[in-house]
Amino acid sequence: MAGPCHFAIFGASGHLATTKLLPSLYDLDAAGALDPALRFVALARRDWDTAAWRARVLGVLGERRSLDHDAARRFAARFEYVRGDHRDEETYRKLLAVVKERSGDCDNVVFYLAVPPDDFLAIVQLLDRTGLNDVAGRHRIVVEKPFGKDLASARALNAELHRHYREEQIYRIDHYLGKETVQNLLVFRFANAVVEPLWNRHYVDHVQITVAETDGIDGRAGYFEGTGTLRDMVQNHLLQVLTLVAMEPPASLDADELRGEKAKVLRSVRPIAEHEVDAVALRAQYVAGSVHGRPVAGYREERGVPADSVTETYAAVKLFVDNWRWRGVPFYLRTGKRLAAQRSMVGIRFRDAPQQLFEATACAGRHPNWLILEIQPEETIRFELQARRPGFDLEPRTLRVDTTYRDDGERPLDAYAALLLDVIEGDRRLFIRFDEVELAWQIVEPILARWSDSATPLETYPAGTWGPEGAARLFEKPHHRWRNEP
Ligand code: BG6
Repeated sequence: MAGPCHFAIFGASGHLATTKLLPSLYDLDAAGALDPALRFVALARRDWDTAAWRARVLGVLGERRSLDHDAARRFAARFEYVRGDHRDEETYRKLLAVVKERSGDCDNVVFYLAVPPDDFLAIVQLLDRTGLNDVAGRHRIVVEKPFGKDLASARALNAELHRHYREEQIYRIDHYLGKETVQNLLVFRFANAVVEPLWNRHYVDHVQITVAETDGIDGRAGYFEGTGTLRDMVQNHLLQVLTLVAMEPPASLDADELRGEKAKVLRSVRPIAEHEVDAVALRAQYVAGSVHGRPVAGYREERGVPADSVTETYAAVKLFVDNWRWRGVPFYLRTGKRLAAQRSMVGIRFRDAPQQLFEATACAGRHPNWLILEIQPEETIRFELQARRPGFDLEPRTLRVDTTYRDDGERPLDAYAALLLDVIEGDRRLFIRFDEVELAWQIVEPILARWSDSATPLETYPAGTWGPEGAARLFEKPHHRWRNEP
């Protein structure tokens, strides 16, 4: 077979593998997108054998509303289970034996590191020590975000990866790039001639990028405590969305053309001086509250979180992209856990009309045009225009030109499914190039430095709300506000 013959998942019993990788790989299999000869190897510490693992796969998939049980059984049967710690060399010898036994002369294995970032380096080194990363081969290694904990550790990890793999073999994944609306940003911007003339500082007042989650940390205190929202979400997912909103059209859809334009955006982001951090960035943590009418604990009461933790569960940042297109247009980014709704969207707020002709009428008041690109839960593009409400007066009403761009019968695929297929097919367009990682760390590092000082203000917000009150202070203009509704 031309593609990989094995797909090995490190951390197979973990949260990411359970909630995202297994369901997405199943979807690809059920859709007939996987070569029948492709085998999966699940690696984890739990005391299971292959039969028990396959039963677990069926259990995980069984939670889905509609499941083709035959397809699920065929999918589970593709798996072998390797029991062992990924910090132990013996585990790799077992993996090597499975790969050798099954694949004959196949030299193409995908290694998926679904483990905490602190373990990436050890895995890369052990793959090397046991001969599982033959540079002459075509193995691929998929590294989850955050790539490093800061610029220095990201560079160290990258250098280590490059000692064993060529750049074409490395897939730095950011699953937000697999989301439909995020990819649709490219098509919407560059396939519609009417959009481009409006997409700049002359027409856009500001941009808001929101990723709101109602979930808490889902039992992941071990990972989250040392990470925080800025590293977990802003350095990667939100900055990646920003690059697609702000980038210039690439010369072609070639992976490096595309990533080159994204990197240029990050390079144009105005550096934040450390003394400015409090004016342009804000961190907060949730306290007890209620989500969907159900009482929930505060962050500091979550299992595994120290009672005096200052780890942020909410971050809001104001950035400027200092180039011809965007100079002077603020980009407001915010994301948090235990917020009022599960909602991700990009909001483009256009400038007010130059003449407020209706100021003295019932139409008075600002009703700007907004373009909302909802990423989830709906995948929608919505344009808000003002029109007169039929009747006797000049009363305004906001019209929403709304497109759900999925046709009936087109089922949404999880972002991971699209990206996992790209890994298998060797398409690197939607994976992050290392210069993007470096630039993103450079943008957030002054904030990280300031927030590492426990004396830096940490606001709080009750779980189930839209975040701390103080977040409104980031706006340049007093009448602006965070847009919560899609
Ligand atoms: C992950 C973060 O990368 O993205 C999680 O580590 C977060 O903390 C998740 O919950 C959000 O992804 P999605 O696809 O559910 O919006």
